[in-house]
Amino acid sequence: MSRSLPEKGLSKEELLQEMQALRSDDVDWRSGRAWSLMYYVDNDHQEKIEAAYQQFFSENFVSPVTFASLQRLEREVVDWSASMLNAPEGYAGLLTSGGSESIFLVVWAARETARSRGIRKPEIVLPATGHPAFRKAAAILDMRVRTLTVDKDQTAVPVQLSGLLSRKTVLVVGSAPSYPHGVLDPIREMAELAQNKGIPFHVDACVGGFMLPWVEALGHTLEPWDFRVPGVTSISADVHKFGYGAKGCSLLLHRNDRLLKQHLYVQADWPGGIYATAGLAGTRPGGAIAAAWASLRGLGRSGFLATAETNLKAASHLRSQLEAIPELEIIGKPCMNIMAYRTRGNVPDLFILADFLEERGWQVDRQHKPLCLHLTVMKHHVPVIEDYVRDVREGLAFAKNQPERSEQGTAALYGLMARLPTGGMVRQQVRQLVRSWYVKGEGSRERAIPEIPSWQGQLNRWLLRFNRWRQKR
Ligand SMILES: Cc1ncc(COP(=O)(O)O)c(C=O)c1O
Repeated sequence: MSRSLPEKGLSKEELLQEMQALRSDDVDWRSGRAWSLMYYVDNDHQEKIEAAYQQFFSENFVSPVTFASLQRLEREVVDWSASMLNAPEGYAGLLTSGGSESIFLVVWAARETARSRGIRKPEIVLPATGHPAFRKAAAILDMRVRTLTVDKDQTAVPVQLSGLLSRKTVLVVGSAPSYPHGVLDPIREMAELAQNKGIPFHVDACVGGFMLPWVEALGHTLEPWDFRVPGVTSISADVHKFGYGAKGCSLLLHRNDRLLKQHLYVQADWPGGIYATAGLAGTRPGGAIAAAWASLRGLGRSGFLATAETNLKAASHLRSQLEAIPELEIIGKPCMNIMAYRTRGNVPDLFILADFLEERGWQVDRQHKPLCLHLTVMKHHVPVIEDYVRDVREGLAFAKNQPERSEQGTAALYGLMARLPTGGMVRQQVRQLVRSWYVKGEGSRERAIPEIPSWQGQLNRWLLRFNRWRQKR
């Protein structure tokens, strides 16, 4: 790979050809081979949002006053979503670059509130299954995270919450649902406890916010999880997930402007003019906001309902097929089209199955604590569900017949991680690996780039070396 920018430019055809070649090893997610990360309706929808993105491709929405059109589009997305999330009059919200930014803003707002009350090391309470974006925000903002235990169904245990609340607690979080297993935390009970102590309660509906309203509208009963719960003060919901927008768009909605005011930033004396933002970003891509609007407006309520219905049916079909396999169990009570499964008593070894599935061309999301495999099931999986289940059955038979495989591949990796004396060692190695993706020197970038998709493989190699070293001692 050349280190300097090539002298001669390329035509559009040449560019596309080169990029296409680079993509040849990517997972074919449109054919349902991946079970996470991509949120897709169909080609028709894709064309609509791409065209909308294109319309506002160059527009910079750093300041809502420059483009009245984008301001209007953002406003409408916020208003439609607010009604979907049952927000009361007086709500305040904005679009951000993604779930992590929405979460950062909420944590930041909570910290500012704490500061105004003289709390030096404020705390947030987060279920063990809560998204890492909260811990990342807390680390940046010098706050402490207190972890709320989850039960065997992976839902937060509200009775333990009271013991974690103190005068330093400035935010409590619940997931609707949690990403790993698709289960809903007991939002009502948790929010009530927080409200009784005057503590804000955030619902992380990044993955569920644009799905659960339709789950309910389709007649499934869910425990209340949105602004209908009086103690809920804010909700994050990602348009770039089940809002089917372009990547780079999430919604942050507050019950009122009290917390919003805490994450506004203004510098009035900057020589470049008065600078003011409500979120973290400066430049904001007009395209992502236009695509968000086009996605909601293009599908309409009926489109969302129909898509949700297909997704739920696909998930329920896959779930019943997996439940029919005696060696497997679904974790907890998934509330939408996200779930995780594991082998009963970890027999046979789940990660031999995972390696087997990967060899068959499936992208597999391995999770731990407890060991399980993640599935986000959507419309584009419908044609491959039977193939997947067949491969799972064959993989289980393979795992039973070849138990020694647990010492190879990622099976060994996760087995080892479960036994490692300290998570700190793994963290250290992963940091080292991530660093190598970005740092020039020792040729690391050139070597690392082809290996990025298999970073688990790199970690694996390190852990196997570590294992060998340990065995020799
Ligand atoms: C429940 C939940 N919260 C937060 C996030 C973070 O969102 P993002 O990756 O857009 O920053 C995710 C992402 O999957 C999520 O599932």
